[in-house]
Amino acid sequence: MSITNQKFAPLKNDRLLRALRFEPVDATPVWMMRQAGRYLPEYREVRAKAGDFLSLCKDTDMATEVTLQPLRRFELDAAILFSDILTIPDAFGLGLYFEEGEGPKFKYTVRTPTDLERLPKIDVANQLDYVLKAVTNIRKELNGQVPLFGFSGSPWTLATYMVEGGSSREFRHTKEMMYARPEFLHALLTKISDAVVDYLDAQIIAGANLVQIFDSWGGALGHRQFIEFSHNYNKDIIARLKVKHPDVPVVMFTKGGGLWVDVQAESQADAIGLDWTVRLDKARLTLNEAQRALTIATKKLQKPKAIQGNLDPATLYGSPATIKQAVHDMLSDAYRADKTGYVANFGHGITQWVKPEHAKVFVDAVHDFKI
Ligand code: CP3
Repeated sequence: MSITNQKFAPLKNDRLLRALRFEPVDATPVWMMRQAGRYLPEYREVRAKAGDFLSLCKDTDMATEVTLQPLRRFELDAAILFSDILTIPDAFGLGLYFEEGEGPKFKYTVRTPTDLERLPKIDVANQLDYVLKAVTNIRKELNGQVPLFGFSGSPWTLATYMVEGGSSREFRHTKEMMYARPEFLHALLTKISDAVVDYLDAQIIAGANLVQIFDSWGGALGHRQFIEFSHNYNKDIIARLKVKHPDVPVVMFTKGGGLWVDVQAESQADAIGLDWTVRLDKARLTLNEAQRALTIATKKLQKPKAIQGNLDPATLYGSPATIKQAVHDMLSDAYRADKTGYVANFGHGITQWVKPEHAKVFVDAVHDFKI
C-alpha cells in the first residue's frame, strides 16, 4: 500500500483532543485500554472465525470490525487500532506465536551480539503494511465519529519480550543485561527506538489522529534505571515524532510509573497515562509544578500536560453502585486543580472477566459527572 496523506471526514466528537489541549469540554472524554477484547462475546465470535489472534490482526476487515465493536455498545470518545505491541518484535523476525492460555512467545530471542546483528532494519511500509491498512480502513469506517489512536510498545517494554522470549515476572535475562552488559542493552534499545519512530510515523500518515506509547514494564525498574533505560528512549522517540507531526498528540503510559511523573514531565508527551496507585490530584500538582520549573529553566513557556487514567479495571467486578462511586471519586481528584486536561480510562487494560454491562456503567458514569 502506498502511504499517502489521505482525506478523512472531519471529527464529530473531538472531546478527547480538546481535553488534551486544555480547552473546555462539555463532558469528560473516556476510552478503555484493551476496549476491544475477550470480555465482549462479539469479539470472541470474530476471534474464533479468525482462528488465532495474529490472523485476526492481519485481516483488515476483521481488525476493523473488532475495533468498532466496543463503540457500538458504549459511548466511547476514542477508538484504538486493534493490533498488538508485539508486531515490532515479530517484524524483527523473532517469530511471534501465541500458545493458547500462555500468552505471547517468540521462537528466537536477542541475547548475544550475533542475535543483535541479525536484527534487520524494519521496513514498516512492507512488513507492517497490514497494520497501516487497518489504520486507514478503521479511520474511513469511523467516518469522523471519534478520533483513532495508533500505538506502540516502548523500547524497554519491547526489549523485555525480545530478550526473555515472552512475558516475564522477573525479567531475569533483561536485567542481567542491564547490570552486566549495559552497552549491549543500549544498542538493542536504540535499534528498537528507530523502529518505533518509523512505525508511529507510518500509523499517523495512514490515519491515526493520536498515538499512545505503552511502557507496560517501566515500573519494574529502579528510578535511575527507569530514566536511563526507559524514559530517555521514550523522550527521544516523542521528540523525533514531534518534529514530523507537531500537532499529533502523544500519550505516554507507563505502568507503575507514578513515582516518576516529574521525570516524565520532561518529555514532549501531551498526556501522561497513570495507573491506580496514583492520586490524580497529586499527579496534577506535580505536573503543574514541573511545567513551571521547566518554563523557568528553559526560558520557554512549556505546555501543560494532561493526565489519563486511572481506575483499577478490577473495580468493574464490583456492583454498578461501586463503579459509580469509584468514578465519582476519581474524577473529583482529577479536576481538583484544573477543569480540563483529563481523559478518563483505567490504569491498565480491561480484563476478559468483566461483564460488558459494567463497562457501560463506567463509561456512562464518566459522562454523567458534572465537571
Ligand atoms: O486496547 C485495545 O483494544 C487495542 C488492542 C491491544 C491489544 N494488545 C490486543 C490484544 C493493545 C493496545 C495491546 C497492547 C499490548 N499487548 C500490551 C500493552 C498494554 C498492556 O496490557 O500492558 C502488551 C504488554 C501486549 C502483549 C500481549 N498481547 C500479551 C501479554 C497478550 C496475552 C495476554 C492476554 O491478554 O491474553 C497479548 C494478546 C492480546 N493482545 C489479546 C488482545 C485482545 C488477547 C488475544 C486473544 O484474543 O486471545
